[in-house]
Amino acid sequence: MLSAVSPNTDLASFHDHLKKSTRVLALLGAGLSASSGLPTFRGKGGLWRTHDAMSLATPEAFDDDPALVWQFYGHRRHMSLNAQPNPAHYALARLAEKMPGFQALSQNVDGLSPRANHPPGQLQLLHGSLFDVKCVDQTKCGYIEINYEDPLVPALAMPTGIDPTSDEARDAAVKSHDISDINTALPKVETKDLPFCPKCSQHLLRPGVVWFGEALPTKVLDNVDAYMRGGKIDLIMVIGTGAKVYPASSFIGDARELGAKVCVVNMDANDRPPGGWQEGDWFFEGDAAELLPKMLEPVIGKRY
Ligand code: APR
Repeated sequence: MLSAVSPNTDLASFHDHLKKSTRVLALLGAGLSASSGLPTFRGKGGLWRTHDAMSLATPEAFDDDPALVWQFYGHRRHMSLNAQPNPAHYALARLAEKMPGFQALSQNVDGLSPRANHPPGQLQLLHGSLFDVKCVDQTKCGYIEINYEDPLVPALAMPTGIDPTSDEARDAAVKSHDISDINTALPKVETKDLPFCPKCSQHLLRPGVVWFGEALPTKVLDNVDAYMRGGKIDLIMVIGTGAKVYPASSFIGDARELGAKVCVVNMDANDRPPGGWQEGDWFFEGDAAELLPKMLEPVIGKRY
């Protein structure tokens, strides 16, 4: 159904509002990292081999086939480590430095916002991080480490040959080394060769990301809650996310209730916030990496 209200697309009016704002949220999604070369989940690039990426992001998938799920996450770690933050990550990090009342709520696990030096106190990683690795038994063992090793264990190395994320590999001739492509043979990996917990030595390690059916990290939820209890919110920017996944998507409505105007930045002209557009919202259609530096310029300046 078409919304009766059309969003504003005028940058000057957004700038006016931003300049008056002190408490600003951003809900970030995979589209923020798209121009860094990382695929989004829904739509083009959403399939990993023949698997819907979301079907691999569950505790059940890991129980059924830990090797396949670790190959998926090993590949995502590899891609993320070989990607670079783009101008949107840097613009948001700069906004955080300039505006103490800015908080970014990121659904991304790719580590690109931290690598753009986004101040950690102003970045809530709602869905964890690919670079947190933890024992599957968080009740009794509780082991967790930060780990940027690539590969995490030898069995998770990308097929030998040419690095699948290099410029050279973008050439069709060597594309065959990209294991997200069904035409590339997936190396056989035994469970015994997967990473095991160094603390309890009994259980596998797993990626420290939030899977479907799991709760968001308590500390992160507490931080979001504390922010929401801080009073009026001027603005929430919804950047590069379909805003379809709960509870992340619910923070848009929470911010609205606290007075926030909504500004969506997305490539898809049909994307709209949950509940539709409301009077005073903005929509900027296009690549976040191009748009964000211009949108935030009145606060962050041109050079940073
Ligand atoms: N700039 C801005 N937006 C973009 C760009 C870009 N360059 N490229 C794509 N987009 C938009 C798409 O139009 C889409 O609306 O980014 C959005 C990405 O949506 P999803 O793929 O659904 O990703 P996201 O919203 O982050 O998914 C949420 O779902 O699978 C889980 O846990 C996973 O964190 C993820 C969550």
